[in-house]
Amino acid sequence: MPPKLLITGATGFLGSHILRAAQENWHVVGTYHRTTRRQAQYFFGNIDHGRIDLGDYSETKAMIADVQPAAVIHAAAITDLDYCEKYPDESLRINLHAATNLAALCGDEDIPFLFTSADLVFDGSNAPYAEDDPPTPINVFAEHRALAEEGILAAYADAVVARLPLLIGYSLLGRDSFYRQLVAALRAEQEVTLFGDAVRSPVSAAVAAQGLLQIAGSGFEDDVNIAETDRVVGRLHLGGREQISIYKLGLLTLRILGLNEQLAVPISVLDSYAGLLQTPFLAARSANVALDSTRAYDLGYDPPPLRPQLEELLPPSWRLQVAEPDPDESDPETPEGDDGI
Ligand SMILES: NC(=O)c1ccc[n+]([C@@H]2O[C@H](COP(=O)([O-])OP(=O)(O)OC[C@H]3O[C@@H](n4cnc5c(N)ncnc54)[C@H](OP(=O)(O)O)[C@@H]3O)[C@@H](O)[C@H]2O)c1
Repeated sequence: MPPKLLITGATGFLGSHILRAAQENWHVVGTYHRTTRRQAQYFFGNIDHGRIDLGDYSETKAMIADVQPAAVIHAAAITDLDYCEKYPDESLRINLHAATNLAALCGDEDIPFLFTSADLVFDGSNAPYAEDDPPTPINVFAEHRALAEEGILAAYADAVVARLPLLIGYSLLGRDSFYRQLVAALRAEQEVTLFGDAVRSPVSAAVAAQGLLQIAGSGFEDDVNIAETDRVVGRLHLGGREQISIYKLGLLTLRILGLNEQLAVPISVLDSYAGLLQTPFLAARSANVALDSTRAYDLGYDPPPLRPQLEELLPPSWRLQVAEPDPDESDPETPEGDDGI
């Protein structure tokens, strides 16, 4: 029997990709919260699973005792930045307390524990960010992620705090994601405003899931080897190799789809503060939070370049049959018409 991997938030955007990818080498157990049992069964099939509120300590403790996982990837969270701003107590309960409690429970049993943190713990003023750069959160979600990172490593020094970049792709449960919305709007040839100064180091959720599983298996081998002595521990950045603004990500998507690049309109994160957005954000948005992921690359994490990742998400049947610019001549970092925002 393969070792048992517990994935919290298995119905989430990232969790669904981890769950799918993990099935090759692990006996997977996934948990969820608001998803109905019926929906979960439709997605999980025969995989063990359980509905749980991770904000409930005794439920969580009982679940760990019941499942007895060989490793845990904690991908459950409240990820809507504006919701967290509006309901900080709920964010505190799940994004901080649930995460630190789960880490401490794993620490008690020396169960390898991976926390999925985010590039958003940084304010965006000093990119690219390395693992030892101090977090500088500018909204409630980021503050609770940063406090969770600290609390987790204080409770369990051998835990992994994996900071992920912006994830692109689609939820395997058909739920909304940033990139799904973007592609749907662009394919409908709707104009889309995108931050030209919000720089990220994105990877697809599938690539991030593989990276997390490599770490969970420790050793970056094909086979799971959690017993390996030099387990990866501590903070680790799993960013992609390119730094690109969200606006330029939109441009690259338009190029691959063969659509008019004018559909992407650059705006600034500062426009939100200046009251220039039709629907202003409640939570402040970070500008450049690109991650320096050298440590992970040295360990064997090897995300492909961004363009092939996007091409995999944009099937040929979606693309207009127009000649695309030669990729060698069309650096996504310097698209034509870029106004440098
Ligand atoms: N998406 C990104 O671009 C991105 C970027 C950087 C880092 N990350 C990190 O990756 C992780 C996952 O993000 P995501 O985008 O996949 O999130 P998501 O799609 O919003 O999924 C959240 C998951 O958490 C579960 N959950 C929520 N409240 C819960 C509770 N009280 N008890 C138990 N489970 C609960 C949800 O279950 P139900 O659906 O059943 O309610 C769902 O499975 C987060 O830690 C996030 O910080 C994501």
